[in-house]
Amino acid sequence: MLGGIAYIYFRKWVIYVTYSAQRKQRRSIDLESVVEKGDGYIKAVPWPIRLLLFKFDIPQDIDCHVFELKFPSPLIAAAFKDDLEILSFWRNFGLGGVTLKTLMPMARTGNPRPRLQSVSIGFGGGLLNALGLPGKGAKHTVGELQKSHFLSTTRPTGISLGGNSVQDYFHTFLTFHQYLKNTRFAYFYEINISCPNTPEGQDMVKNPDLLSSLLQQIRQETNAVVSVKLSPAQSNDELLKFGRLVASFPRTMLNLGNTQYKTCKEVGLWQSAISVGGGGHSGPKLFLRTLEMVRLMAPLGLPIIATGGISTPQQAQQILESGATLIGVATALVENPFCVPQINHHLAST
Ligand SMILES: Cc1cc2nc3c(=O)[nH]c(=O)nc-3n(C[C@H](O)[C@H](O)[C@H](O)COP(=O)(O)O)c2cc1C
Repeated sequence: MLGGIAYIYFRKWVIYVTYSAQRKQRRSIDLESVVEKGDGYIKAVPWPIRLLLFKFDIPQDIDCHVFELKFPSPLIAAAFKDDLEILSFWRNFGLGGVTLKTLMPMARTGNPRPRLQSVSIGFGGGLLNALGLPGKGAKHTVGELQKSHFLSTTRPTGISLGGNSVQDYFHTFLTFHQYLKNTRFAYFYEINISCPNTPEGQDMVKNPDLLSSLLQQIRQETNAVVSVKLSPAQSNDELLKFGRLVASFPRTMLNLGNTQYKTCKEVGLWQSAISVGGGGHSGPKLFLRTLEMVRLMAPLGLPIIATGGISTPQQAQQILESGATLIGVATALVENPFCVPQINHHLAST
């Protein structure tokens, strides 16, 4: 697709220009500056041109259901971005839904920069990130959602809940719930228990009782669909244990899964490429583990979002045939959002 090729070359050019300036100023090479610049270029394109060039219809008959939620395409944005304007831009490529980046109860700055880098193809490609969940906090984001036209009745929004304790997660949930329960928008909650960049955020991965307690508290408040996002780093036995726990609650689904922790050295980057020495590796290298996890968990009968390394029509088809209901994409969206209409059309033709 011509648009995809143009996008890839444009992105390469932005990376080249940004890195050259950083080298000249003797600053660390930092992919986050490229993202900021790229987002700025997208926002500078007037809306009518954006709609003309970057809006794609979703073919009929590729819709799917998770309980009463209808997704016009199984492709959804995984949680990794909180800029509503950029998320709308990507949604227009034909995403069936969008998950917001994990929200913490309060604003936080995350890890020091640099904290996002590209990984070369020789080391599996994709991205290495240790953002550490920077964000403006749940209350601020609810305010932004209220002011924007982002929420939709036809393309569900995932609200990714984060926290450093069960109380924190529940606080984040309540902040959204107070607003969403009085609206008619389509949405679901996602509990991100598997973020590798906040040491405290791992507690639920180690302790399923904490997850159980959170699910109980959320269930007392709402019937909304709740997804639990697991990690490819968990062993298959652990995944099954968590899967059975999640299945014991009504109207739940699984998201399989998240990034995989690697040191800078393991993915061929210099030690200080990420300020904290390593982070979550995303992109193509994850695909086989995602496929394995979907095949392992499908017999539990829960709806599954398959997330990790999916970027081609063939991968999307294979993962759906293996038992996934939805497909989460993050790295592929950054690298070439034109993969979305391409995958949608492939799914419609099979
Ligand atoms: C820059 C970046 C930030 C991310 N932030 C989050 C996050 O806030 N919450 C979350 O659950 N996953 C987060 N992820 C993980 C993605 O949602 C996704 O699970 C992972 O990248 C694997 O999918 P991919 O191979 O399609 O990128 C992030 C990933 C990237 C690359």
